[in-house]
Amino acid sequence: MRPIDATDYMGAAASRGITIAIVGKVMWGSIISEWASLLLRWLHVVAAIAWIGSSFYFIALDLSLKPRADLPDGVQGEAWQVHGGGFYRIMKYLVAPSQMPDELTWFKWEAYTTWLSGFALMVVVYYLEADLFLVDKSILELTPFQAGLFSLASLALAWLLYEAACRTGLAQRELPFAIGGYLFLVALTYAFTHVLSGRGAFNQIAAIIGTIMVANVFTLIIPNQKKIVVSLIAGQTPDPKLGKTSKERSVHNNYLTLPVVVLMISNHYPLLYATKFNWIIVAITLALGPVIRHFFNERHAGRKSPWWVWGVAAAGVVAILFLSAAGPREAKTAVLSAQPTLADVEEIVMSRCSMCHAAEPVWAGIVTAPKGIQLDAPEHIDRNIRLIGRVAAWSSAMPPGNVTEMTREERAVLAAYLEQAR
Ligand code: HEC
Repeated sequence: MRPIDATDYMGAAASRGITIAIVGKVMWGSIISEWASLLLRWLHVVAAIAWIGSSFYFIALDLSLKPRADLPDGVQGEAWQVHGGGFYRIMKYLVAPSQMPDELTWFKWEAYTTWLSGFALMVVVYYLEADLFLVDKSILELTPFQAGLFSLASLALAWLLYEAACRTGLAQRELPFAIGGYLFLVALTYAFTHVLSGRGAFNQIAAIIGTIMVANVFTLIIPNQKKIVVSLIAGQTPDPKLGKTSKERSVHNNYLTLPVVVLMISNHYPLLYATKFNWIIVAITLALGPVIRHFFNERHAGRKSPWWVWGVAAAGVVAILFLSAAGPREAKTAVLSAQPTLADVEEIVMSRCSMCHAAEPVWAGIVTAPKGIQLDAPEHIDRNIRLIGRVAAWSSAMPPGNVTEMTREERAVLAAYLEQAR
């Protein structure tokens, strides 16, 4: 995508037919990618609800199982539940029943669909529009291709490192593994926020965690389950180690769920991803998710609820709130010669934003004002002033990837204007 000079447009009036054909092509490309993005996001969210929903359900079920005297051989415990007008009595066989049931329900396509739709969505949003959402030239000069390659390679590498750590038995030592894994993710986040745009970096770390979780289902949990079924059919006793390693991975997934969800929706919140301490915000989030999960795990297991969790969570959220108020990356308290006026703000917005945010945008690839926000006239700018503050003064989310090269001083002028206006 590159800016189209409005005068080029006029000049092309002579060859009007060609111009319209080109505009038509750009427009259809844009419209199709917008719809692809909606359909994939819809599928992704629905699949993720089904996956995480069943995963939360099974964790809670597992924790609530109670041993009783009259249970069949090999049964660890049972649980009674009531739902939708009926009572359910559920038993868990530690490895497997002595005989295979005729019908067995597997839970795997929820996870696979979540990953496949998520990856496709990432291609449509972050790879095909890498210049807007993945690259930020004020962070690092990358071409869209380099940024895409970096994203793919780091995704694969991070997953391989995790997989290797688990396979070499490191994961059996739970606490050191949890601490090591946490530091690994924070280090990755720090690196990503210094290579990609803030938004791209948050999505990248979320994609890595999501990939690890789905890969746990695909490469270990389901294959182990299949091996168990095969040995049962052959009349052998399955290796109990298979179930144990699966459980290990499902515990990892359990603790990663809350952070991955909040990181996935973080792209709606510029104050998180496009401010100075964005990587510390991720570090806190990565710690808070498991702590909150711990509360529910203890509760579902019927143990004493660890209420302290909410104190820690509240402290973390307050810390994030203050960190997000630190302003854009490398913010400078510019020495302004005079109090900025609305006219100064308008001049900045007209020159840095209105090429996209106009009734008829002149930025190639943008066919309607993004999110319906027009910033091409004083009254529109005045009306949207708080939104402008959130995305361009207190954070550097807009212009996306800083494509129109807004300067720190200009952000400082916007911030100073907002400060005095309220
Ligand atoms: C290159 C084109 C482009 C430029 C320049 C640009 N924007 Fe945007 N803007 C977008 C796109 C694309 C989106 C939609 C982002 C998305 O899909 O999440 C957007 C979204 C927004 C939103 C809505 C955010 C939300 O919460 O949904 C605001 C507000 C905004 N821009 C303000 C600005 C301001 C202020 C500037 C100038 C400092 C600016 N934009 C410059 C393309 C642009």
